[in-house]
Amino acid sequence: MGTAVDANALNADATYRAAVAKEFDQVTPENAMKWSEVEPVQGQFNWGPADELVAFARAHGQKVRGHTLVWHSQLPSWLTEDAFTPAQLRDLLRKHIFTEVGRYKGKIWAWDVANEVFNDDGTMRDTIWLRALGPNYIADAFRWAHQADPNALLFLNDYNAEWLNPKTDAYYNLIKTLRKQGVPVQGMGMQGHLALQYGLPNTVLQNAQRFDSLGIKTAYTEVDIRMQLPVDVYKSAAQSEGFGSLLRACLLVRGCVSYTLWGFTDKYSWVPGFFDGEGSATPMDENFQPKPAYYTMRETFQLAGH
Ligand code: XIL
Repeated sequence: MGTAVDANALNADATYRAAVAKEFDQVTPENAMKWSEVEPVQGQFNWGPADELVAFARAHGQKVRGHTLVWHSQLPSWLTEDAFTPAQLRDLLRKHIFTEVGRYKGKIWAWDVANEVFNDDGTMRDTIWLRALGPNYIADAFRWAHQADPNALLFLNDYNAEWLNPKTDAYYNLIKTLRKQGVPVQGMGMQGHLALQYGLPNTVLQNAQRFDSLGIKTAYTEVDIRMQLPVDVYKSAAQSEGFGSLLRACLLVRGCVSYTLWGFTDKYSWVPGFFDGEGSATPMDENFQPKPAYYTMRETFQLAGH
């Protein structure tokens, strides 16, 4: 059971810090390991917040999910604004992966190597990496990450990846192909950013099962369930069902190794800042009071003997 951790809150808020230590056995840096954070100026590194979280996890016996190495978002502006050649970009990406994975070698349990590489219709997302390097950038990234830390589990990761749809078809096929080629892809991360107004997906278990059948690990990596505010008891009940159904799917497939929340308290959730009029997306309110979703997950773990 994991959570994304807000690096500032971890330092500034003792209640938050205590809850991260008490409720979870895995942590993911919400932002601290993203490229724009670790190398804001080319060649000048800012490892402080990431190092602190890794040390916190170690002190509390927690595993760390590294997030994320190749993404189209939260890239430093020196990288996106300078007109690098494809060969230079390939070199920069390679160096970035070796530097970051190498720094935390042996301390990161699983890496989200490539994040959000497909569109919802299953075509490849148009990114700086696809444009410059072509579709093989994904295989390259996994090979480099594996060389830098052969013991870390290497994941793909995306949203709208929790049910059967064209995007998960694309991931299923990509993983099959990559594994046939011997590329070290070892897991499929399903972010789990759901929204009540779109309805809860009903092929969650089938989707987890088909990835499981490929012989890889699966994980719910960024679960939160937002809603249009204000919250009421019906939305709260539906949210609880959503958190429960993803957790049940994880417990029901053999290779599901992680169920991570994208924040556990509304006090620090990214949702209100990104989705107008939406919120209440986590299992605890701003005062760390548990919602029905919290108790549903606890009971589900208890029933499963955890
Ligand atoms: C979000 C963070 O929560 C925000 O604090 C940040 O401003 C933007 O990114 N998918 C991902 C995460 O893989 O990295 C994103 O995190 C949420 C969507």
